[in-house]
Amino acid sequence: MERKWWHGKTAYQIYPKSFQDTNGDGIGDLQGIIRRLDYLKELGVDIVWISPIYCSPLADQGYDISDYRAIDPRFGTMEDMEELLAEAKKRDIGIVMDLVVNHCSDEHEWFRKACEDPEGPYGRYFYILPWHEGDPLPCNWRGAFGGSVWSKLPGHEDRIYYHAFHRKQPDLNWENPEVRQEIYAMIRWWLDKGLAGFRIDAIMNIKKLLPFRDFPPDREDGLCGLETVLRNTEGVLDFLDEMAEQTFRPYEAFTAGEVFNEKEKDLPRLIGDHGVFSSMFDFAETVLDHSPLGWYAAPEITPDQYKAACFASQRRVDGIGFLCNIIENHDEPRGVSHYLPAGIHAPEAKKMLGGLNFMLQGLPFLFQGQEIGMENLACTSIDEVDDCSARDQYQVCLDAGLTPEEAMKFLNRFSRDNARTPVQWDDSPNAGFTTGTPWLRVNPNYREINVAAQREDPDSIWNFYRALIALRKNPRYAETVVYGHTEPWLEEQHNLMAYFRQGKDQTLLVAGNFQAEPQDMRLPGPIRDLLLNNLRTFSLTGDHIHLAPWQFLVLEV
Ligand code: GLC
Ligand code: CA
Repeated sequence: MERKWWHGKTAYQIYPKSFQDTNGDGIGDLQGIIRRLDYLKELGVDIVWISPIYCSPLADQGYDISDYRAIDPRFGTMEDMEELLAEAKKRDIGIVMDLVVNHCSDEHEWFRKACEDPEGPYGRYFYILPWHEGDPLPCNWRGAFGGSVWSKLPGHEDRIYYHAFHRKQPDLNWENPEVRQEIYAMIRWWLDKGLAGFRIDAIMNIKKLLPFRDFPPDREDGLCGLETVLRNTEGVLDFLDEMAEQTFRPYEAFTAGEVFNEKEKDLPRLIGDHGVFSSMFDFAETVLDHSPLGWYAAPEITPDQYKAACFASQRRVDGIGFLCNIIENHDEPRGVSHYLPAGIHAPEAKKMLGGLNFMLQGLPFLFQGQEIGMENLACTSIDEVDDCSARDQYQVCLDAGLTPEEAMKFLNRFSRDNARTPVQWDDSPNAGFTTGTPWLRVNPNYREINVAAQREDPDSIWNFYRALIALRKNPRYAETVVYGHTEPWLEEQHNLMAYFRQGKDQTLLVAGNFQAEPQDMRLPGPIRDLLLNNLRTFSLTGDHIHLAPWQFLVLEV
C-alpha cells in the first residue's frame, strides 16, 4: 500500500446546523465553526468534513442543493467560507466539503429549466419520461425515504421524473456528458478555493440500472428497495474514474465515499493505491440491524456481531486501502446508544466503544459530540421529529399495525435527529449552542454531558478521546497505530473484542470487555507497557488480565 499524506490523520464531521450558532437564529453557522477551530485543534483533529452548507431549501437538511457555488445565507457568506478556509489552514486543519451530485434540489436552476422545457437541453439533465395516468410506472423501486422513485414533473400531467431520495431531490442524469462536465467544473472551482477534499454523498446511486425494470417486491406496498437495484447495477466505476481523473487526482484531494453495496472485486478500484477515492466509510456495523421491512423489524446488535463486522471489514480491505471508521454520523443513531446494550450510559463503556473503533486500521472519523459521549434523544410524539426519513418510517410502523407509542420507540432508536441535536458545549441554557431557540431540541441531558465539564475532568470521555488521538500521533507508536496489521486475538471469546496491531518491531494489543460483568483475558506474552486504560485499576495474575466491566486497554506486548 502506498503511503498517503492523510493516513496518520484524525478526522471529524461537523453537522453545521447543530454545531455552533453565533447570531442567535437557532441555526449553527460558519462563524460558529471558526470560533471552535481552536477547540478542534486542542482535541487533535486534522481533517474536518462539513455537511452541506450550499444554498438549499432544506427538504433534506442541505442534501438538496439549489446552488452549488453559493453558501446558504443561514450558514453565512462566501467571505465566511473563505475566512474559515484561511483560519483552518493556519491551524493545519484541512476542510472537506460534502459533494452531493447524485441529485440536486428541485429548486435548482437546472430543474426549473427542465420543467419549463422537458424537451430542451435541461430536460436531459434528469430522468424525465412520458407517462399517462393509468400507465404502469417504468419500475417499482422504492425511494430511500419511502414511496415510488417516480413523481409527476411539476407543471406536466404527462411526464414523470426519477428521484432516489426525496421528491425535492431529482436525480441528475450522469449518462449525459454535459452534466458530468458541469459537475467536474464545479468540483475544480471548489478545490481551487483551497479545500482539502470532499466527502461524497450517495455516490453509488449515480449509475442507473437501464432500462428501468421491476424487481420482486420486498414489502406489501409492491415496491422494491434500492439495495436490490444497486446490487444488480454495473458500471458506476467508469463514471467515478472519469471524475477522479478530471478533479481529485490532479489536486491530490482527500475523498471519502459514502459507499454502500459495493462489490468485493471493486475494492481496489474504489480505495486501492490508484483508486477513485482516498477512502470510504465502513458501514458494516451500521447495517447490521437494517431490515428491508423497515425500522420496526430491526434486530438488536450484540457485541459479538459488532466485533465480527469490524473484523470482517478489516480483512476485506487488508493490504488494499484504508476505510473511514465511525461509530455514528448524521444519518445514524448515536453510537453509544446503538452499539452498547440498552440502558448503558457508563462513561467507561462509551470510552471502550470509542477506543475499540478508533484503534482499528483506517482513518478514525469522529462525529461532533461523540467526543463527549452524546446520546440519542427521547421523543414522545411525531410532532417533535424533523427528519424526513424518520417521518416516513413512522408511517411504515403504523401501516404494519404498530401503535403511535410503539412507533416512537423505533424512531427513538433510529431517527436521524438523534445525532443532529445541538452540540452540548456547557450547562448554560441551550447548552451554549445558541442564545435563541434551537432549530432542533437540545438533549435535556446537557447539564450532565457537556464539553466544558469534560474538559476540566482528567477522567472524562473528552480527555480519553484526546489521549487516543495523541497516541495516534505519538512518534513512538504512530507507525504501528496507523499501519500495523490488524489481527484478532481470542476471536471466539464471548463479549471480548481484542486485536493486535502488528508493526515492524512492535505489537500493540487492544482489548475491550464488552459487557457489564468482569472477564479474564489470556495474554500472548509479557506486557511491555500500558498505553491506555479507561479505568484507574488494572489487575493481572500470571498471564491473565482480570478485565473489569467495560474495561478497555491498549498494551504494548
Ligand atoms: C446521504 C446523506 C443523507 C442524505 C442522502 C441523500 O445518505 O448522508 O443525509 O439524506 O444521502 O442526499
Ligand atoms: Ca446562526
